Amino acid sequence: MRDPTLQKKLLTWFRKHKRPLPWRETKNWYHIWISEVMLQQTQVETVIPYYKRFIEKFRTVEELADASQQEVLKIWEGLGYYSRARNLHQAAKSIVSDYRSQIPRDRQELLKIPGFGPYTTNAVLSIAFNKPFAVMDGNVKRVLSRLFAIRDDIRQLKTQQSIQALMDNLLPLNLPSEFNEAMMELGATICKSSIPLCSDCPLLQNCQAYKKNLVTILPYKSPSHPIPLKQSLAC
Ligand code: ADE
Repeated sequence: MRDPTLQKKLLTWFRKHKRPLPWRETKNWYHIWISEVMLQQTQVETVIPYYKRFIEKFRTVEELADASQQEVLKIWEGLGYYSRARNLHQAAKSIVSDYRSQIPRDRQELLKIPGFGPYTTNAVLSIAFNKPFAVMDGNVKRVLSRLFAIRDDIRQLKTQQSIQALMDNLLPLNLPSEFNEAMMELGATICKSSIPLCSDCPLLQNCQAYKKNLVTILPYKSPSHPIPLKQSLAC
């Protein structure tokens, strides 16, 4: 019998092991948008109570648009990266006044709205509307750099572009929502940065880094500040 495809293995694993998270109970684009913005620089466990409080306080995009910036920042207090909250608020105002309270489903149009960078745009369009756009966050970069044993510097734009191309190629066009979430989930729970749980990984057989014993050294990150020559000679 043919080996199941990577996609099939990943999706089967995801359906069985995905964490029951509050934003996974809905396809409401407003809820998915809020969760994806919160999840960008913050761990799932931290996000959960903030997400619940936020959507209880601002139940719709109109309620968010009508709030004062102070109210929005107050709910965000403790979550950090406050420009995310300011952008959410600005975006809500724009969606209400320029798009009659419905986010545009067109990718180029959506990218014009404050805070909708490539990640948020692809995440919302794929997860809420099942549009075929592949997401690339830190988890996806790590999973793919290991799966394909990519040794190039992950900080370089060129490397990120090749990873985006690999992800675009892998994305099953009929299941973009589930596939994107499954890749992020694999990165968050199995293909972890410091202690990857390779023996539990559904893609172990596909993993080039595992075959070459490179898992713990990938993704490769160049040092952010070169060590001054004098200091490196001294030690
Ligand atoms: N990280 C960011 N968004 C995520 C999602 N939808 N599922 C799992 N991890 C995520």
